[in-house]
Amino acid sequence: MAEQWSSRLGFLLATIGAAVGLGNIWRFPSVVGQNGGGAYLVPYLFAAFVFAVPLLVLEFAVGRSLRTDVVSAFRTVGRRYAALGWVVAGAVLVILSYYLVLTGWVLSFFVASLAGVTLTFDGFAATYWPAVAFVVVTGVVAVVVSAGVKAGIERLSTTVMPIVFVVLGGLACYAVTLPGWAEGVAFFLTPRLSVLADPGVWSAAFGQVFFSLSVGQGIMLTYAAYVDEGTSLWKSAGVIAVADVAVACAAGLVVFPIVFTLGVEPSAGTQLAFTTLPRAFAAMPFGRVVAVAFFGLLFLAALTSAVSLLEVSVASATRATEWSRPRATAVLMGGVFCLGVPSALSYTPAGAAVLGVPFLDFVDASVGTFALPVTAFLLAVVFTWAADTAVVRAELGRAYPVVKYAIPIVLVAVTATTAAGLARPGWSLTAGSISDGLVRVAPTFGVLAVLLGVGWLLRDRVRPRRWRR
Ligand code: PHE
Repeated sequence: MAEQWSSRLGFLLATIGAAVGLGNIWRFPSVVGQNGGGAYLVPYLFAAFVFAVPLLVLEFAVGRSLRTDVVSAFRTVGRRYAALGWVVAGAVLVILSYYLVLTGWVLSFFVASLAGVTLTFDGFAATYWPAVAFVVVTGVVAVVVSAGVKAGIERLSTTVMPIVFVVLGGLACYAVTLPGWAEGVAFFLTPRLSVLADPGVWSAAFGQVFFSLSVGQGIMLTYAAYVDEGTSLWKSAGVIAVADVAVACAAGLVVFPIVFTLGVEPSAGTQLAFTTLPRAFAAMPFGRVVAVAFFGLLFLAALTSAVSLLEVSVASATRATEWSRPRATAVLMGGVFCLGVPSALSYTPAGAAVLGVPFLDFVDASVGTFALPVTAFLLAVVFTWAADTAVVRAELGRAYPVVKYAIPIVLVAVTATTAAGLARPGWSLTAGSISDGLVRVAPTFGVLAVLLGVGWLLRDRVRPRRWRR
């Protein structure tokens, strides 16, 4: 019955596709720029290889052993835990609702560059194109997921990811020819060890790494359900982490030389991709080609990540109901669409806002920021404390205590520093617009509480599975 990836390469490209996204090419350079450049790299690499990789392996081990989705994996641990599985699946859908909006922006900038139009972000937001693009992207993601694991997700990833690597490599080579290359690279790569004493930098780095690797969302668990027994989970996790970090670094090596060549601010944050860079492209030799390449690659990378976010709940829903994959996709994507409309309208003349903050920024600053550590915490804790299984122990080996003790502690610490506003500017769509920790944390827990309630009602929908070696 169960679907499988057609090859290990297919599995790797699908998981790398899930990991590599806006987080690597847009968010990473923004966070590095705001945290003063190279200093940030040390905690970033440490977080990636010491913490994120073991958590990836945990998700892989659970997914492959049980050959199932997040909800029934939690259900296997115990009847009550199924509710937590639904929390994870639901939180991922909320993230998807605004990830699709951002993906739509990228698509719009790509199409505009193709047409030779230099968009400014303000000009773009003065139209309803952001909403139109949201509709288009939502449709594309739904079509891919409803086509299935092999025919949809794997086919997309194996086609698109090589293009992403090649185009990014090409852009990095082009960046070498820019007069600001040396300065940009120095800013990006020179470590300043003094900042390592700043807990805010560490917190920003951890937040970025977990987001960027798509770990702690049940995505990797879901994808590992389709992998064969012979695949080495540690090797795969290592390859994914290296690829993800490499893409982020390559993006840095493209973005910072451009920024320094044009003499603009590296700390522009979110503005970097949609305001700073388009202006830079317009002023550069071959700028139009560069713009098409940059936004095209960003779009493809975002698309494969959006697909992975949807697959988590589609996999769960098809098992919890009698629905076919296309039907489950249509129902869930319908829900995500409704949820995403206010975000999509935030930067249009409709200007959807809550408490004076664009709705999109509000979702990003609340659920978008805090749901991720919560779901990662649930995965790490439930599958080591509540279910202490031989399979997971054997797979993690000496890294078991990292997942059981260190990761939960780190996640709590990161969440607390971010909520208390102690973290350095990690990521926010409009810098500093929502500084009040409570305004960000309260809605997150509101949403999670609603999901928990729904999950509780649905807890008997799925059956437990058996741990298999
Ligand atoms: N990792 C993806 C990126 O870097 C986005 C993502 C985040 C996907 C969280 C799933 C969960 O863009």
